[in-house]
Amino acid sequence: MRGLVVALALLPLPAWAEFFTLKGHGGPIMGIATAPDGRIATASFDNSVGLWTGQTPEWLEGHEAAVNSVAFNGTAIYSAGDDFTLRRWPGGEIVGRHKGKIVGLAASTTHVATASWDGTIGLWPVDGSDPKMLGSTGSGVNAVVFSPDGSQLYSAGMDGALRIWDVANGQETNRLVEHGFGINELVLNAQDNWIAYGAVDGVTRILDLEAGGDRDFTLDRRPILALALSPDRSLLAVGDGEGYIMVIDTVEWRIVQDFRATLRGPVWALAFSVDGANLHAGGIDEAMYSWPVTTLSDQEQMASAEPSFLKNPDEMGNGERQFARKCSICHGLSPDSDRRAGPTLHGVFGRPAGTLPGYLYSDTLQDSDIIWNDETINALFDEGPDHYIPGSKMPMQRIAQPQDRADLIAFLRRATADRN
Ligand code: HEC
Repeated sequence: MRGLVVALALLPLPAWAEFFTLKGHGGPIMGIATAPDGRIATASFDNSVGLWTGQTPEWLEGHEAAVNSVAFNGTAIYSAGDDFTLRRWPGGEIVGRHKGKIVGLAASTTHVATASWDGTIGLWPVDGSDPKMLGSTGSGVNAVVFSPDGSQLYSAGMDGALRIWDVANGQETNRLVEHGFGINELVLNAQDNWIAYGAVDGVTRILDLEAGGDRDFTLDRRPILALALSPDRSLLAVGDGEGYIMVIDTVEWRIVQDFRATLRGPVWALAFSVDGANLHAGGIDEAMYSWPVTTLSDQEQMASAEPSFLKNPDEMGNGERQFARKCSICHGLSPDSDRRAGPTLHGVFGRPAGTLPGYLYSDTLQDSDIIWNDETINALFDEGPDHYIPGSKMPMQRIAQPQDRADLIAFLRRATADRN
């Protein structure tokens, strides 16, 4: 058995046109980037970036919250996320900081740009010189993209405006669109003079940058969460909140594929492989799925391997259901279920807070003198983590009903204990 596992781990990524999955993350995949040398980087809700040249990734660890976006730039890799930081790998040094989540990244030869929910755009010179902050735009920025020569930056966000900025002086020079709803994603095809945007209300629109007209590929699904352009610029892939992927032929301007890619949950991330043969997708499932472009719609759905806790909630006891709905996205229950946003809860009863080896706790939890037991876990969700341990990385969440807390704790007692 072990021999088989090792052999699988050493398998290289398929060279072209095969369906494959990349497994190992412990949370949804929020961003995917591909490098010219074939490497794939995945940004995950589990706080890590996976760097894949085969089935076993190198884990880039350091972010203290979900990682939303990742980009290759020369020999460096940049990642950014819910901990407000922009980091450069290898090393994970913090090279930029916002006052809110960073949800979008773009790289040119001279700068990395960050789109942040603090309303600003960061322009971070790769040579380490002083950054420039563009805006505030007045509301969250979701997406940024450079013109090919790096002199202009396009941005879009919650206010629905598609702006152009001059990178040299940091000034807004033009506003192309005032969409009535927030814009989540941008793809620029400067060679063919168009920019595509995907919006909260399900709109997918392609704007002609020369003539000024637009093409509309809006279907009845929303929101649009991911866009990707094939390397030869002939295909535009669109992922949405209902788990579908639509592929538009940008030469004929027609929809060539439209299929349900996930059994549940959104498509958060899309990227074409460097050779254009495959389309990679990430979503609520913990694996990255990659389809050969030629056979997209006949392939397996991403979520065919559902995580085991996703039993039908009606068939679960109340405690298990509480866990599945309120905790399982961030916590595993077994000794080896790591790589989620929170530490595994295996063996948590009787454990002093903040002491699981290998997990990066907040200083607050590490320095507290709480011992986890029925009373302290009950108090944690009766008062809510923000009151019980202010400053911890736990999300604000209360479980109001005493019976729900009691059932959850009884379930945890069983599910976190050693089996044998
Ligand atoms: C969005 C992610 C998230 C959710 C949902 C979540 N947690 Fe957590 N949890 C965390 C993080 C992150 C930490 C580590 C906190 C820190 O370091 O400050 C944590 C820590 C803990 C700890 C302390 C573990 C230790 O080793 O000290 C317990 C106990 C815990 N969570 C229980 C739960 C339970 C029970 C639920 C569901 C009712 C839950 N959590 C839901 C993210 C989450």
